[in-house]
Formats: sequence, C-alpha cells, structure tokens
Amino acid sequence: MIIRPRRLRRTGTIRDMVRETHLSTRDFIAPLFVKHGKNIQDPIRSMPGQFQFSPDTLVAEAEELWDWGVPSLILFGLPDGKDSTGSRSWAEDGIVQVAIREIKDRLPDMVVMTDVCLCEYTDHGHCGVLLDGVVDNDTTLELLARQAVSHCDAGADFVGPSDMMDGRIGHIRHALDDAGHKDRGILSYAVKYASAFYGPFRDAADSAPQFGDRTGYQMDPANALEALKEAELDMEEGADMIMVKPALPYLDIINRVREISLLPLAAYNVSGEYAMVKAAAEKGWLDGERAMMEMLVAIKRAGADLILTYFAKEAALKLRNQPQG
Ligand code: PBG
Repeated sequence: MIIRPRRLRRTGTIRDMVRETHLSTRDFIAPLFVKHGKNIQDPIRSMPGQFQFSPDTLVAEAEELWDWGVPSLILFGLPDGKDSTGSRSWAEDGIVQVAIREIKDRLPDMVVMTDVCLCEYTDHGHCGVLLDGVVDNDTTLELLARQAVSHCDAGADFVGPSDMMDGRIGHIRHALDDAGHKDRGILSYAVKYASAFYGPFRDAADSAPQFGDRTGYQMDPANALEALKEAELDMEEGADMIMVKPALPYLDIINRVREISLLPLAAYNVSGEYAMVKAAAEKGWLDGERAMMEMLVAIKRAGADLILTYFAKEAALKLRNQPQG
C-alpha cells in the first residue's frame, strides 16, 4: 500500500487546516531609521521601499504599522554629528530620544524598542571606543549603558544592544535598575554574526567602519557552539528576550538557540535578506511577495517567536488580505 501524504494537500481548505506554522502581524518588529528635520522621507537606495524619516513622518509610519496590527518597532538613529566616543547617542535631545518621545506621545501602547550601539554615532564607524586602534570592551560598556538609560528616560520599552561587547547585558541591566528603570526590558542581540548581509543597512544608517571590519567583536559564521555560549551568557546576565542575527542563513542557529532558551526568541531578517528579494523581484527573477512570505514563515518555523523585518508593513498588509499566510 502506498502511504499518501498528498491527501492532506488536496484542497486549500485542507492545507489551511493542517498548516503547522502561522504568521501573524503580532510577530513583527519593524526597524525604522530616523534623522533630524521635518517632513522628510528619503528613500534608501539599497533597500527599495524603506526610508529615512524625520520624527514627524516617522510617527505617521508608526501609526500606519499600528493600524495594520504591527505592535512594535525598533529605532535606528542618524545623528546630527559624530565624534570618537559617539556622544550624540546618549544626548537628551538626540535623534532617537526625540523620536521615542514623539511616538509615545501619539501611540502610548506601541512597544518602542531601540538599537543600542555606537557605530552610527562614532566618526570611525566602529561599535565601541577605540584604544590603540582596537575597540576597547570595558570603556565601551559605560557608554552603552548611558545610551540605554537615556533611551529609557525618553520612554523606550526595550533596549536592544547590538554592539557585541562582552558583559554588556549585565552592565546595562545594572545601569537601568540604578536609574529607576527596573521595569524596562533588554532585547539582546545575543547571537550576532559578522555578516555580509548587513551591507545595505550600513548605507541606510551611515555606519560602515572607516577601517577594518567587525570580526573582532561579531561572531564567525562558521560557529554554532559559540552561539549557544553567547545566548547562555546573555540569559544569565538578565536579558528579557534574545535574538539571532541574521535570520535566513542561520535557521539552524535559531533552532538550536530555541531549544536551550526559555525566553522569547527574536530573529533579525536583515537588510541584505530584504535587498536580495527586492532586487531579484525587480528583475522579474522571482515573485517577491511569495519569497517574502516563504522567508518569514521559515524563520518562524525554525523557532523564532518574533521577527525584526523590513517586510513588516508589506507582510502585514498581505496577512490582512489573506490571513492564512
Ligand atoms: C549596529 C547594527 C547593524 C545592524 C543592526 N544594528 C549593523 C552592523 O552591525 O554592522 C544591521 C541590520 C541590518 O542589516 O538590517 N551595530
């Protein structure tokens, strides 16, 4: 006798009934770029459909996401000045701090997250301060903590350290507690690889290192046990959620981290993953919308509870029209 799995694929309704993984707009966290000014919505060349917003247009974008069922966003700032320590990153009138206040003013229930890192704010483009040409771990911790506290002072719900310094989660947790932010959370970029897939983002955020690369602090793509170690350390240090980044080339890592973690697990569907789908779709080489949905459901199937994705709005619209995803 032939066993016939195809019986469960015979009609759309049957397929819907037996589908194992369901995407929801509530899974999405939308990454957004913000810069100073008014009424600005500058297209990002390497990421079609993505923009650098000024705070006013950013609020309008956030409202749209909220109305479409996306509960959360993560902010990346383009500061009005850079220096060797990235001091504009913890300024009360810094661009992210201003943006948080404006979003919270209009959308108090929207979950506002922030990227905590120095690379967009340093003139050398590295994620920490330099000592003899090398990113110095322990001096950087202090500055990251200042930045995280200032984001929470402005009203952020979660801070997302993406710098990959050792000990940063514990350090930031203490600093938040000392500043009276015991109730604010940390989404740790626990497992972050040194990846070519961040290319378009560095254009968008103007954060490419001016010399060298990030292999001295971000992880080697060949390593999996190290991912488990990084995840465990951040859980011990007090992370509330952890993340694997990038997503698509690291589905095995998402799956393995899921197995050892009791925390909500996020995956970052990064700029290069977005750009390659957009570029191929523009050329007519694949169906961009189907590729988008397939990518997102695969990331969730691998074990991610939450997905940071530039597709958030487009996928939310698609899910609204066709909830089965
Ligand atoms: C900052 C940061 C980066 C990304 C998120 N936070 C760039 C990097 O590490 O070089 C990449 C996000 C993306 O590619 O979508 N450190």
